Amino acid sequence: MGELAASIAHEVNQPLSAVIINGNACRRWLGGASPNLEEARDAVGRIIEEGNRASEVISEIRSFVKKSPPHKEEVDINALILETIGLVRGEIIRNQVVQLTDMAADLPPVYGDRIQLEQVLLNLIMNAIEAMHAVAERPRELLVGSQWQDDAQGVLVSVRDSGSGLEALDQEQVFDAFFTTKPEGMGMGLSLGRSTITAHGGRLWAGPNPDYGTTFNFTVPAHV
Ligand SMILES: Nc1ncnc2c1ncn2[C@@H]1O[C@H](COP(=O)(O)OP(=O)(O)OP(=O)(O)O)[C@@H](O)[C@H]1O
Ligand SMILES: [Mg+2]
Repeated sequence: MGELAASIAHEVNQPLSAVIINGNACRRWLGGASPNLEEARDAVGRIIEEGNRASEVISEIRSFVKKSPPHKEEVDINALILETIGLVRGEIIRNQVVQLTDMAADLPPVYGDRIQLEQVLLNLIMNAIEAMHAVAERPRELLVGSQWQDDAQGVLVSVRDSGSGLEALDQEQVFDAFFTTKPEGMGMGLSLGRSTITAHGGRLWAGPNPDYGTTFNFTVPAHV
């Protein structure tokens, strides 16, 4: 919680500083004998933009804190995988991604919150697609798999990409709240994903592929 508070302070402080700087600039543009209205208008525009950014951060935090405990039921993981892929079909086509699945047959249902698990999977798949944006010299391959895992007494879901990889990043930092390398990213996907999976009694982790890209894995215990 202390770590989260520090991230929040940091994230809200940035737009607030920008509001103050632009407010001061605006006052200077308006002062003097011949005020520069155009510059003043631009500064006000930036104030509004930064204000919106701060309010977005706050509403994201609100939904993070309000997140209700998982409403657990039996979930067919393979059906959930296919449904989630269906949601991002447009993105897959638009980004020229080759999408493959490798799902074990006869998996028992897992015990979890359908909607929350779908959110986790959706973020992993979107991250994978986004990590392959810059890939041009090899196929952009997305492989979503499922298999039974004895140690976890549950199902292991994996999302593998041939993207940029995590080598340049701190492997654990990507799970921090607000850590993002994307201009439009919030950096909440993996942080929320990990807390969701932990609340389900499972684990979420990442590892490099032998050749290129990354595989994100999570487990969800089966209903016993
Ligand atoms: N498959 C991946 N390959 C390479 N880097 C990744 C991958 N998945 C995540 N990352 C890195 O981890 C960061 C955090 O991911 P996370 O999903 O938490 O946030 P985000 O995608 O940036 O924003 P959002 O909150 O919209 O999901 C990403 O910005 C990216 O730098
Ligand atoms: Mg994401």
